[in-house]
This record gives sequence, C-alpha cells and structure tokens, in this order.
Amino acid sequence: MDYIKEIAEFIKIDGVEQGEIIAAVVPAAESAFGDYSLPCFKFSKVLKKSPNLIAAELKESLSASKPDFIEKIDAVGGYLNFTLDRMLFVKATLTDIIARGADYGSSDEGSGKTVCIDFSSINIAKPFHIGHLGTTVIGAALYRIFKKLGYNVVGINHLGDFGTQFGKLIVAYKLWGDKTDIEKNGLKSLVDIYVRFHKEEEDKPELTARAREWFLRIEKGDAEATELFNFFKAITMKEVDKTYERLGVHFDSYAGESFYNDKMQPVIDELKAKNLLEISDGASIVDLSPYDMPPCLILRSDGASLYATRDLATIFYRKKTYDFDKCLYVVAYQQNLHFKQVFKVIELLGHEYYKDLIHVAYGMVSLEEGAMSTRKGNMVYLSDVLDKASEKSLAIIGEKSPDLKNPRETAEAVGVGAVIFGALINNRIKDNVFSYEKILNFDGETGPYLQYTYARCNSILEKAGKIGDADMSSIAGDEAYELVKLLKRYPEVLKSAKENYEPSFVTRYLIDTAQAYNKFYFEYRILNEKQEVKNARVMLTKAAAGILKDGFGIIGIKAVEHM
Ligand code: ARG
Repeated sequence: MDYIKEIAEFIKIDGVEQGEIIAAVVPAAESAFGDYSLPCFKFSKVLKKSPNLIAAELKESLSASKPDFIEKIDAVGGYLNFTLDRMLFVKATLTDIIARGADYGSSDEGSGKTVCIDFSSINIAKPFHIGHLGTTVIGAALYRIFKKLGYNVVGINHLGDFGTQFGKLIVAYKLWGDKTDIEKNGLKSLVDIYVRFHKEEEDKPELTARAREWFLRIEKGDAEATELFNFFKAITMKEVDKTYERLGVHFDSYAGESFYNDKMQPVIDELKAKNLLEISDGASIVDLSPYDMPPCLILRSDGASLYATRDLATIFYRKKTYDFDKCLYVVAYQQNLHFKQVFKVIELLGHEYYKDLIHVAYGMVSLEEGAMSTRKGNMVYLSDVLDKASEKSLAIIGEKSPDLKNPRETAEAVGVGAVIFGALINNRIKDNVFSYEKILNFDGETGPYLQYTYARCNSILEKAGKIGDADMSSIAGDEAYELVKLLKRYPEVLKSAKENYEPSFVTRYLIDTAQAYNKFYFEYRILNEKQEVKNARVMLTKAAAGILKDGFGIIGIKAVEHM
C-alpha cells in the first residue's frame, strides 16, 4: 500500500488540485509527529488563511470520516500530522514483504529501457590496484540496482588496451621477459619488466624509439606484435578475472580502447562535416573556449588518435548498438574535465543524447599509511588487499567462533565483504581512506556488522520453525515499529539510489536496518514466548533477514548463514 497516495487521496481542500496534495504529503520529520505530514504553508495564499488555521480546520473536517488505517490526525503549527494504525500497518507491511520475497523492492520502471554502465575499465598489463576498487564496486552496485528496477543493463569493461605502453612492453619482454615466469607469476612479472623498461629508458633513448616501432606494428596488425599483445592481454585477464570473481562482478562486454581502432573515422568525418575540427599546431582539435574549457584533442600532429577520440567513437558505437537511455561512466573525478569535453563535443555535433551521458564520478580509495600490504611500483594490488582482509577475518573468526564449520569460506566472505562495504559506505564523491581495523570492526558501520546481524536473524529463523497465527500487537512497540517502517522503505531507497547514482544510499540504509533490528532484538524476547507473540516476532525477523540479504546482493556482499 502506498500510504502517501492513500492519505493524499483522502484529503480534500477546496481550490487545490489533488495532484498538488499528493506532492505535498511527506513522511513525518520525527516519530513524535506521527508517520506522515501535510505542511499547510503553501496553501495559505490560495485559501487566504494562516497555515495554522488551515491545519486546524482540516483536522476537524477530516477526523470524522478518516479511514481505518489512520489512527489519528493532529494539527501542530501549520502541519497536519497523520498517525497510522500500527497494527494494521505492521501486518500489511510484513505480509507484503514476506509474500513478495526476493521480488520486494523490484519494479518494472525500467522495462524497455537500456542503461550502459562503463565501469572498472582496468588497463591491460598494469596492476589491478586499489584505485580501481571504487569504480568496480560502485559500478557493480549500480548495475544490480538498475537490474532490480527492471532496466536492461549492459556492463562494459572499457579495457585500457591501447597505447604506446604496449610497444614498451614488447621491447621489455624481448629483452628480459621469461615466458614461463610470466605464465607462473602473471601480472606482477609483466609489471616488473615494464617498470624496469621505464628506468632503463631514461639513459637509453634508443629503447623508446624501438618501443614506438613496435607500437606501430601493433597498430598495423603485424602478426608477431599482435601475438605478443594478445599474450599480455590473456595474462592480465586471467588474473583480473579471479579478482572479479571474488568481488562477484560480471561484465557483458569487454570492448575496450583497441576495439575502437577502426571505428574513429566516422567521428572525424562528422566533426569535419559540421565544421567543428580546427587545426592548431598541426593537431586537430575542437575549440571549447566558448565553454571555458581547453580544446578537445582529436588527432595528434602525427595523425594518432587520442583517449577522447576513442571515447567519442565509443559513444557512437554504444548508441548504435544498444540505443541506450542512459550511458554511465563510473570513473574517478580526476577525469571530470575529460568527460565534460567529450560530452560537449557530442552536444556540439547536435546529438540530443548528450543529455543521457553521465559521468558518475567518485573519490579516491586508499589504505591508511602503514596498512599497505604489498607495494609494487607504488601500487597496492587489489588482490593483496582482499587476501589480507580475508586472512585477518580468519583470525577474528577463529577467536570469536572457534567451532564454525567452514571458517575459510566464511572469512573470505567477511573479508571481501568488508572491503566492498568499506568502499561503498560513504558518498561516492568523498575520498575514502580506510584501514583493516576500521573495515573489519564487527561493531562498527561495517560489512561484518551487517553479516553478523544477518547470521543472528538466520539462527533465530532456524530455531523458530513454521510461522502460524501472529499477534501483531506484540510488535507494535516503538523499536519494532521503527524497524517495520524502515523495511517498508526499501523500494524507495533503491529508487533514490538509482536516481542519484549513489550506492551509499543502500549501504546506509542497510546499516540503519541492522541497527534497528539489533535494537528490537535486545528489547524483545523472541523465541521463548507465547506462540502468537513468538510468531509475530519471528515474522519481523524473517522480513528483516530477507531485506538484508537482498540488499547485500545489491551491494555485492555475501549473506553468511553462520558466523
Ligand atoms: N582505463 C581508464 C583508467 O584506468 C578508465 C577508462 C574509463 N572509461 C572510459 N570510457 N574512458 O583511467
């Protein structure tokens, strides 16, 4: 039941449209003011009365005929406050949540619409480092949120697999590379020779020249160059796939920068045809000075394309291939200017869909100084962070629950979950410095705290057995009622998380819900109670557990049954 709508439909004000009333009813700011309110200030002008008088008169006229689900109506300082009948509310809400199960919170608002999400977008032959954590987990959470709301979602890993660095890597490999070693040690070996190349290149400029030649050979499709490039790519993908699997992340497309090698001409042609391309110092640019931006570089003086050129080609391709309603880019805020420029160029080309291109920027994730695990060329590998969090969880679990049956599996779920949650708890734009201490604190606002709460619910449900007739008055007290109200809000939370591209709305909500559940748990006896009382409290536990689990699925952490 949509209470706002039901309440609004019941309110009648002469001279005010019903739609305006629906838009005005809001959840009460504080429980002391009931559950929903209608602020009467905006009707003052039309009715030529004070808000206080309007509220008081409405209270009089409406109270007599109020529907059952409203317990009382009050007028307080220009607000008309509605208090719901708790028992009816609790019963209707819990019955609905339990009946809908995993479907609760889903909707078909996205039906027939496609959203592309460009996220993670790692670079081949470079470390998958902690800097990619934000884009990977934010993108994956948005992916699942849009899916839950009925959208057709295309997750795209726009691989950084193009650029002069691949020429360098080939030269480095030919000089110092050892195939067996690379196959055994993977990415780290590749990064090692790449780092060595950079050092030696400083006094040996001939290396740079050779790297340029090899890069040209890649571009031309030369067999040996292509084979080596594919080998580097395979090594990288094998390794990052393991990390993606641990994080529960999946992509529908890996079309990256090199995929657009032969797809840039239409962009250049169209820019020329629309007189947007200018030559400046030999390079081709789009002048963006009227918009207070530096020019967007399209072709270097030697004719080579740039990052922006590829992104423009990508947009053409995605529009044509997916006909997206929105195309999101989950990329660090350091690239704000890049996306502003690229989107502006699309606008200047006259494509209305420039409005559907959205840069979902996020802040830096880093580990607290001293908490670094492995440093390789100044990079903290994400896989090392996950290993360490998992290892530390194992130690904590060993202490807290020495009898647990599957400690390793649980520790992996808790450790990885802690890292994911740690990266999602704050507003995405904020820089986020975290320590293992903080993210693994079982009593803090953390992944383990959520998982622990879920396991608590689960152990009650395991003991409870089948739920029969329930006495709803036994869960109408404040703590229980606050929890039910929160559970009811889950669908709204998903919607506003989607609207703001903000998975932290979901993580916040889950923390609030877990805290509310724990308050209820400490205030109410659940199992050793009269049958009907027990049934009602178990029902509430079941609804809470269901929503926690669903929310975990959205943000990408595992629901552990025992902890
Ligand atoms: N590979 C790039 C990086 O690591 C991010 C690419 C983002 N996506 C895009 N379409 N530009 O910085």
